[in-house]
Amino acid sequence: MGKNVLVTGGSGRLGNYVCPYLKEQGYNVSSFDVVPPRPDSANAKAGIPFVQGDLTSLGDCLRAFSFGQPDVIVHLGAIPFNVDLHPPYAGEYNRAVQDGLRFSQAMPEQATMEINTMGSFYVMDAARRLGIKKVIAASSYFVLGIGFRLSGTSYEPEYLPMDEEHPLLPEDSYSLSKVLGEEIYRAFVRAYDMRVVAMRLLGVYYPDFDRSRAMHTFNVQVPAATDQDKGYLVSNTYQYVDARDIAVFVKLSIEAGNLAPFEPFYVATDTKYTEPTSAIVARRWPFLAEKAKNIPGTEGIISIKKAERLLGYKPAYSWRTRELS
Ligand SMILES: NC(=O)c1ccc[n+]([C@@H]2O[C@H](COP(=O)([O-])OP(=O)(O)OC[C@H]3O[C@@H](n4cnc5c(N)ncnc54)[C@H](O)[C@@H]3O)[C@@H](O)[C@H]2O)c1
Repeated sequence: MGKNVLVTGGSGRLGNYVCPYLKEQGYNVSSFDVVPPRPDSANAKAGIPFVQGDLTSLGDCLRAFSFGQPDVIVHLGAIPFNVDLHPPYAGEYNRAVQDGLRFSQAMPEQATMEINTMGSFYVMDAARRLGIKKVIAASSYFVLGIGFRLSGTSYEPEYLPMDEEHPLLPEDSYSLSKVLGEEIYRAFVRAYDMRVVAMRLLGVYYPDFDRSRAMHTFNVQVPAATDQDKGYLVSNTYQYVDARDIAVFVKLSIEAGNLAPFEPFYVATDTKYTEPTSAIVARRWPFLAEKAKNIPGTEGIISIKKAERLLGYKPAYSWRTRELS
């Protein structure tokens, strides 16, 4: 009999890769989401048991966890963007504002902060009440402060490649909610005998979702800095992570026995370009050329070495090594 695993946000895009994969790997998987699985979804096809409920209700979390009896919770449920409105700013940022407007029409402005922080708190609180000791939680590389640059300034890495020791300087509600989520996990592992792995995911590539396919063009010609974009580093590091690699990462995290009580990892598959990273950085973000000069080959400006070292993570879905499906 495999371990019991409950996936929050299981009806979402990532949930539809993680749940069926873990089931295939012999785990007893259940899903918890505010939205039921679509009848044509991977989860429905795999017959994943489902509990409907809201992450911001402690009662719903307790009910779902009592149903699934998980040994491990995989916490993916979140609003994966910021829904609050911001004053318009120039160039690149207008797209984020348009997205913000679009998202905000569908959701109250406080949704990102409320669901991502209180949802993470209730997941941890329900887990400790029921004696569930391990949580694998989705965080984001936006914790760094890359992402929605509300100040209109460039992101300034202290050093390259960035790793899990790099300072976290978020500006927008989504990035901040992920940093606060990580603080919540840290507090719970300090207080109780619990373990949390935080997956700081790069931009996720979902092979089955059209919008994701359109956003993930491979072998991109990375443009040079222009007067208009001022050579700023905003959100795109030209790295991505394939949802199928994340599913494998989740399994490695569930099975790892040698980790610190709270362990964050950057999780990526590959970079999207073929030129050496040092040349890409010198052209795209000239102010970072010096810091990037020793990055080997096409390794990203955010490093996944820690995941390789501690978990034996080896991304399998690079566009360089196999046909894209
Ligand atoms: N998509 C990306 O590129 C990306 C990048 C970095 C990190 N992440 C993180 O990965 C995780 C999964 O992202 P995704 O792309 O699958 O997003 P998604 O929006 O497709 O899935 C999130 C799921 O959470 C559920 N949810 C939202 N609010 C809820 C609530 N109050 N109660 C219960 N369920 C609720 C939604 O219904 C949805 O099914 C998120 O935590 C996200 O922040 C995503």
